[in-house]
Amino acid sequence: MEIKIEVQKVGEAVCDCECLIIPLTEDKQGLQYYALSVEATGLIKKTTDSEFRGKLNETFLITSASSTGPERILLVGLGRREEITIEKLRQAGGKSAVCLRDLGKKNIAVSARFLASLSLSSSYFIEGALLGLYSFKSYSSEKNINQIKKITVLSDEPGELHEKLSITKTVASSVAFARDLVNTPSNDMTPSQLARTALSLKRKKLAVNVLDRKNAEKLGMGAYLAVARGSDEPPKFIVLNYQGAKGAPFVLIGKSITFDSGGISLKPAEGMEKMKYDMAGGAAVLGIMKAVSELKMPVNVIGILPATENLPGASATKPGDVVKSINGKYVEIINTDAEGRLIIADAIGYARRFKPRAIIDIATLTGACSIALGSEAAAMMGNNKELLDKLRKSADNTYERVWEMPLFEEYKEYLKSDIADIKNSSGRNGSLVTSAYFLYEFAGDTPWVHLDIAGTAWVEKDKPYIPKGASGIGVRLILDFLRS
Ligand code: BES
Ligand code: MN
Ligand code: ZN
Repeated sequence: MEIKIEVQKVGEAVCDCECLIIPLTEDKQGLQYYALSVEATGLIKKTTDSEFRGKLNETFLITSASSTGPERILLVGLGRREEITIEKLRQAGGKSAVCLRDLGKKNIAVSARFLASLSLSSSYFIEGALLGLYSFKSYSSEKNINQIKKITVLSDEPGELHEKLSITKTVASSVAFARDLVNTPSNDMTPSQLARTALSLKRKKLAVNVLDRKNAEKLGMGAYLAVARGSDEPPKFIVLNYQGAKGAPFVLIGKSITFDSGGISLKPAEGMEKMKYDMAGGAAVLGIMKAVSELKMPVNVIGILPATENLPGASATKPGDVVKSINGKYVEIINTDAEGRLIIADAIGYARRFKPRAIIDIATLTGACSIALGSEAAAMMGNNKELLDKLRKSADNTYERVWEMPLFEEYKEYLKSDIADIKNSSGRNGSLVTSAYFLYEFAGDTPWVHLDIAGTAWVEKDKPYIPKGASGIGVRLILDFLRS
């Protein structure tokens, strides 16, 4: 299953593999950095501009003439040299690796030499390759699956690169871990299964506690439990605590609705099957906790997954019902399909008991988010400029982009209830921001940021390093944030 990565200080011409990837920019001047055989260099020079122009993610396969060294060479385009970015490396890495996998190659190599000459780390290229090679085959009985087994990186500084790549590998496997959880259908990925998965991450510095319905009742989590009422699957409020340093913790809250039918405010049938991905926030948090502990990061992080299904069973919460949340606020439930904010509100209330440095919640909260931003960015809202700025920086680093939306105080009006302290929905107008404003009312003055990933957690068609399906968004973004 796992892809082996090796770094070697050998020349391109003598590297032993089925196919060697040669990244090139449009000017093709980079060719001089590769120690290819005379024949191979000749063949590449002969490819006319109509065959390979070096545009971003363009690929061209060449059959090597010599009997030693790589059997094939795959040229991959990086675009214009002046416009190169680390994101383009990720994309070219994903594109070329997937191309070779689909050709049935198992043992491939990539040369880092030209990238090094541009002061670019090939770790991003490999990151893209590892993320792009992800596939979810748990429910397919097909036996002959193409799979890359080994990637060799040719470099003049193997030591340094080796270290970077081991982090890259851990991060990519945590993204794959999160994607697996999201892609798994809800009949298997129940709140209990999510809890078992969390418990499997238990380590020396990582404690895992699972609160059941009774515990949640005692804590007064009426908003969370209101969502769980309509389902026979027992709710699990999952808490992971990683201690790698002293001081106040960061708390990460991931929305973990393992299936969102809408409840009594039932969703339309069309597309409802996708609502298994309503736990993508929780999956991201588990992926982050896994990586944090494997990388032994010097931080304190608490991960919280309020997990439950949202179903319209006979005991389900009904529109108009009023419940009491953990911090004593009464919430009128206007729409049972606005369940995410209910479970996160109680999780925020619970999180504040830890006196956290900051709370970040990540949730597939509103359809309005994908309408506003498509699948190109997560919506971000929060009450603390420094925190928002840091996340923006990490979003740039990882290309898990965020776009800030406002929390105007006028939105408070939208959430006024006639009989309770607050209502959970004010209809469609502004629902991306009012959902966040609802959470803001629970975060109070604790530094807090909300990330709505409804549009980005699931991709409808393959991207260069995100195959169709669960994207695993949030894992790389928040890991970068925690590392800085
Ligand atoms: N999980 C959904 C949001 C969602 C929709 C995520 C589509 C991914 C794709 C959320 O619980 C929800 O149903 N939100 C409602 C809120 C509304 C009732 C105020 C929505 O956005 O329609
Ligand atoms: Mn819903
Ligand atoms: Zn939902």
